[in-house]
Amino acid sequence: MIVVTTPTGQIGREVLDRLLALRLDAGGCAPAAGGANGATGIRVIVRDPARLPARVRENVEVVQGSHADPGALKEACEGADRMFWLVPPTPQAPSVAGHFRDFTEPLREVTGAAGVRRIVGVSTLGRGTAKNAGIISASLAMDEAIAEMDVHYRALCAPFLRENLLGQAALIRDAGLVALPGNGVLRTCATSDVAATAVRLLRDDSWTGFEDVPLAGPDDLSPEDMVRIVAEVLGRPLRLQPVDGARYRAMLLGAGASEDWARGAGDMMTALNEQGFYGAAQPATPDTTPTGFRQWCEEVLKPAVLG
Ligand SMILES: NC(=O)c1ccc[n+]([C@@H]2O[C@H](COP(=O)([O-])OP(=O)(O)OC[C@H]3O[C@@H](n4cnc5c(N)ncnc54)[C@H](OP(=O)(O)O)[C@@H]3O)[C@@H](O)[C@H]2O)c1
Repeated sequence: MIVVTTPTGQIGREVLDRLLALRLDAGGCAPAAGGANGATGIRVIVRDPARLPARVRENVEVVQGSHADPGALKEACEGADRMFWLVPPTPQAPSVAGHFRDFTEPLREVTGAAGVRRIVGVSTLGRGTAKNAGIISASLAMDEAIAEMDVHYRALCAPFLRENLLGQAALIRDAGLVALPGNGVLRTCATSDVAATAVRLLRDDSWTGFEDVPLAGPDDLSPEDMVRIVAEVLGRPLRLQPVDGARYRAMLLGAGASEDWARGAGDMMTALNEQGFYGAAQPATPDTTPTGFRQWCEEVLKPAVLG
């Protein structure tokens, strides 16, 4: 049995869709118990099941609640052996470190001898390099806390998610600006490649221990290169709006984030700009993140901005 957290989120939704497609391809319509290779049962933990499409609700087991709630998480993990794990970005959380702890602590109760044995979690590049990096430091600390549990763990180490640009659709369309951090090469990846890697690992019971899985897209592009490609794909002139820590912090405060979340996000941007852990020092990983930036712009960004 595989437990999927955040099944309504960008990454979790795609993980779930891919798992369901594999299971339906394997001929199973109802949740099956046990067994690898696509015939595995799927259980989701979700705050509001009505947010799941009907076709999903009909084909998975649903536990209502948050995975920060020990009771709900325990119920979701009953009899399960693997889990897709994601701590949701929550700008209203009063504390960044506290937010990650609030999700990671209940996990202790459901791992170990009698519970989930393999966890595939979403994290970030930057281990061993990022210092005082706000949200990034908290995410890396989460991995280390999970690694100390009696469980096998793969941390999907994402760089800048291209889907961040979807939140800029109006800025791009109406102001002709693309806001990006970084100096030199900025590593990025598509959430579809994160989900595909998660699914591959969730269906593989041969791995053990704790390892990072870097997910750096195939292109060596600077923010300026990325803006040029977005402009070519959209067929309109665009300019780069560099993002620094202070600007990002102020923007998040203006949008209603808590003081600590805005500070943590600002520290993350400053660290990203100054420490380069989303930069060229991280080799591209085209085997696991094959989607090129231009392809992503054509298939995902263009319809979102112009459609
Ligand atoms: N952005 C980047 O560049 C970047 C880079 C590296 C790593 N990351 C990591 O990537 C992940 C981003 O994931 P994503 O894009 O899939 O996020 P997302 O689209 O925001 O989805 C998060 C989901 O979590 C659910 N949720 C929110 N608060 C919750 C709570 N208190 N309890 C339970 N569920 C809750 C929400 O669903 P409901 O509202 O339906 O409950 C939402 O669908 C984060 O872990 C982030 O740290 C991001």
